[in-house]
Amino acid sequence: MKKTTIKIAFAAIVFMSFFSCSEGKDDEDKALFVEFTIDVSTGALAANGGSLVNNGALIARTSTGEFIAVTPVCTNEATHVQLNYDGANNKFVCPTHNEQYNSLGVIISGTGTKNLTKYNTALTGTMLRVYP
Ligand code: FES
Repeated sequence: MKKTTIKIAFAAIVFMSFFSCSEGKDDEDKALFVEFTIDVSTGALAANGGSLVNNGALIARTSTGEFIAVTPVCTNEATHVQLNYDGANNKFVCPTHNEQYNSLGVIISGTGTKNLTKYNTALTGTMLRVYP
């Protein structure tokens, strides 16, 4: 009977630790699960400079037609503010306090310390694959 109690307690601890991640860990975990394909022949990604958020990624089409994808949320202050893509300057900008990230997701202006996660992209015809 004691062994059963110990096993149940151990299982409960493992279960609780799995679901009690910190906010940053949750964001990192979500970033790992971003993998999808999207048709870029229509909508915001059909033209250079366009962008949209889809399946947990901010996808942008640069002024030269390349596709980039990053985590869509500002890392400053953990406010979960969605970033905008500035196609003319090829950077991501937070509308709240103007934190700015380059096309690699690296902070180029602002007080934050955490860069965006950048995803890989691969274009086949009009289908863009976004993946970790
Ligand atoms: S919340 Fe994005 S810069 Fe402050």
